[in-house]
Amino acid sequence: MSSVLTIRGGVPLTGRVTVRGAKNLVPKAMVAALLGNEPSVLRNVPEIKDVEVVTSLLQLHGVTVEKDPHTGDLTLDPTNAKTASHTAIDAHAGDSRIPILLCGPLIHAIGEAFIPDLGGCKIGDRPIDYHLNVLRQFGAVVEKRPGGIHISAPGGLKGAKISLPYPSVGATEQVLLSATRAEGITELSGAATEPEIVDLIAVLQKMGAIISVQTDRTIRIEGVPDLGGYNHRALSDRNESASWASAALVTRGDIFVEGATQRDMMTFLNTYRKVGGGMDIGDDGIRFYHKGGKLTPLVLETDVHPGFMTDWQQPLIVALTQAEGVSIVHETVYENRFGFTEALIRMGANIQVHRECLGSVPCRFGQRNFLHSAVISGPAQLTGTDIDVPDLRGGFSHLIAALAANGTSRVTGIDIINRGYERFTEKLAGLGADFDITSAE
Ligand code: EPZ
Repeated sequence: MSSVLTIRGGVPLTGRVTVRGAKNLVPKAMVAALLGNEPSVLRNVPEIKDVEVVTSLLQLHGVTVEKDPHTGDLTLDPTNAKTASHTAIDAHAGDSRIPILLCGPLIHAIGEAFIPDLGGCKIGDRPIDYHLNVLRQFGAVVEKRPGGIHISAPGGLKGAKISLPYPSVGATEQVLLSATRAEGITELSGAATEPEIVDLIAVLQKMGAIISVQTDRTIRIEGVPDLGGYNHRALSDRNESASWASAALVTRGDIFVEGATQRDMMTFLNTYRKVGGGMDIGDDGIRFYHKGGKLTPLVLETDVHPGFMTDWQQPLIVALTQAEGVSIVHETVYENRFGFTEALIRMGANIQVHRECLGSVPCRFGQRNFLHSAVISGPAQLTGTDIDVPDLRGGFSHLIAALAANGTSRVTGIDIINRGYERFTEKLAGLGADFDITSAE
């Protein structure tokens, strides 16, 4: 049964939240366990929907997944990996995009994989052409079948020299998860180097993989015949940390985010300071707060790491609606990631979206009819309204806008937020938010 959040705005969020393992690493580390010939242990695992989806997909394929009732740590044993029925895979995949990353490990473990047509947030076309091209270059046979794609490699996967047309996080993970046990050397140029990628490389190195990240965004992998297990503590979720930081600005509050890691958030912290946000950076987390003065508008362009992360812009845009002046955001990673602004405009925000590249460099989406630049004028008084959450990050932005708005907002579709924000309603309550949760009639 879906829930409805009725939020009474105008209450500053103050207090402490704990952010645990990164949504964009933990499911990939779970999939990596399939490559080992013995059990692995993954720690700092958040209770989010994406972890549940991958747990059931792995169990479907014969992997045992045990969760420590006290710590939430997972023990994954791939010893009895087996094929699974297509209908079962499809039923369990949900709207996650993770199934595409099972290809390499399943081919190494059982010689084949079936990937259902994928879901994921509606923030663009989300193609998987890079993934399929990578698998073909490793020697896999990719066949479109009803409801999904069947991939096999009768002679096993062979190392390849691969160049990505764009530093895709998922395609880089596809290479890492396929190449570590492929025969021979793989050289990947144009790779993504996000902190979650580096953490996945750390996981694979613990298993026995030989992977080096070179200075020119090239990753070199020397295939090994076997891998062992790993014992790894996942890095914390920098996207959730940035979301709570923006929530502190938007509601004029003060939030200590335990687990927020300066190393992974440097670019965000610079931007947060330029907007006028206050921060105290500690060893166990970061305090984010509104300093009481005006917020400063800015010109922002999202990019791959170490640029400003695309997942950070939605919550920050809500803060920019409160800045004194005109801000510009040029989204260069996804072509259609401003859909969430529609609800903000209904609440009173002054935002226009444009087809032009309003940034320092033209991006892939310039002149292709994608509304991928936004102009935000502030400050604007936000007023509560009815909201249906469109996607994960946009949904969180709607929540914090409703928390800052005058009046009451009725928010539906909040189950999407459970995909990436652990126990977010409990955290909101702990920060003093004024809301009720009821089941949708
Ligand atoms: C990962 O998505 C993250 N998701 C995203 O976080 C994140 O925004 C994104 O990386 C960029 O950092 C997970 O890790 C589960 P990409 P991914 O492949 O791997 C194009 C969130 O809210 N592309 O780097 O799917 C694609 O269309 C989510 O936590 C192709 O054209 O991102 C996009 O324009 C949202 N063909 C660009 O590359 C392909 O085969 C970046 O996508 C693959 C990607």
